Amino acid sequence: MLSTRGASWAKISFNHGYQNSYDPVSNPNGVWLVQDDLAQFINTHCQFDKICCTYGEGFTGTIRLRNATAKHLNAHFKPAQSIDPEQITYAAGVTGLNEVCALVTCNPYSNDSILLGRPIYGSFSKDLTMRTGVTLEYVDVGDTDQFSVDCVAAYEAGFEAAKARGINIRALLICNPHNPLGQCYPRETLIGLMRLCASKGIHIISDEIYALSVYKWDDDNRPSEKFTSIREIDPTGIIDPRQVHVLYGMSKDFGACGMRLGCIISQNTEFTNATRAICRFSSPSQFAMEIAAKILEDQEYVTGLLEKSHRLLLHGRLVAEDLLAKANISFHKKGNAGFFLWLDLAPYLPLDETNGDAWAAERLLSKRFTAAGVIMATGEAYSAANPGRFRLIFSLREYAVREGRVFWDNDLGDVVLRVDLPGRRW
Ligand SMILES: Cc1ncc(COP(=O)(O)O)c(C=O)c1O
Repeated sequence: MLSTRGASWAKISFNHGYQNSYDPVSNPNGVWLVQDDLAQFINTHCQFDKICCTYGEGFTGTIRLRNATAKHLNAHFKPAQSIDPEQITYAAGVTGLNEVCALVTCNPYSNDSILLGRPIYGSFSKDLTMRTGVTLEYVDVGDTDQFSVDCVAAYEAGFEAAKARGINIRALLICNPHNPLGQCYPRETLIGLMRLCASKGIHIISDEIYALSVYKWDDDNRPSEKFTSIREIDPTGIIDPRQVHVLYGMSKDFGACGMRLGCIISQNTEFTNATRAICRFSSPSQFAMEIAAKILEDQEYVTGLLEKSHRLLLHGRLVAEDLLAKANISFHKKGNAGFFLWLDLAPYLPLDETNGDAWAAERLLSKRFTAAGVIMATGEAYSAANPGRFRLIFSLREYAVREGRVFWDNDLGDVVLRVDLPGRRW
């Protein structure tokens, strides 16, 4: 017999054991293109002291790692006010810290909620709610570009509509660069959102885990977007800096989700203290922190790694775009960040088999992809407004993109698409 929550968690999917990653030679794991380089760096640079076998400095990030992270973020995020190591708190991944944000900004089971645009990273729906007693309010921006400053009005409308239903919005969560749309928020939109949060007296939490996975188009006709951290904007006259929090981690830019390291950067001492108090439940490994510190301290290496990553991401994106164009599949063309493309497979939904229920048809299509060895996150999992969207990962070696084999990212699973989609009965 389980508790009610235990019984409901028992129905939620999770990864356990071997994941079917693809490589034609040795079947290595490999969503990210720089993992070989990183593994080599770690194997040649890391020796561990016995201190790593202890609790070390506690559960919130070693001084060495927080110093190295501050240096890294100050170099790459160009913050208006430099980031002090004391503003940084580490935990075992951004996943846990997203939950912590919900825990420390919202009261449980009291109509407290977090505002998000959609589509958005699907795991937020679990990470922020499963253990917190907090609900999520998704804002539909309709035809508005969710990165333009016009989206601010949509968020305000979402806030007011929720309020009218008795929902207390406590925070706005954005993902910048965006997962799954791969776009960066322009500075003026960030300022608009910061002003909105200031006027409503709520926190703004910016998940910037893809901050340095932004590649540049080598085509003059396609302007590259620049990543602007929310910390790059001087909050003076816009918002109390204590309402602004940033999430970052090793999982994406370094291709090292296995390290299980994420951090939150906040100028709010009370928020930071609360976060640190509960980080004991998601403490990072001392070994992982040693490795990450070693990497981040070597900024020359980091620059080289990121340059390589950007080159390979651009190549992967161009290969995927080319294959999709040949297959006549529509996708979200904007953006130059992250590892994914947002496909529109609405024309392929088997509506005739689901009595016209398009969400059921999306699930059916997804099942057929899975059975055929092609696994992509669905639009439904990413809170898409319309059915038929799928998230395709292109950050694989080219042969994998071309062959369309299975690999896994997070617990939703992602895969490159077979390109013979049109005309095929899935
Ligand atoms: C936007 C976003 N935040 C957080 C995470 C999870 O980060 P971590 O591996 O540090 O838990 C992901 C992983 O896909 C993500 O896309």
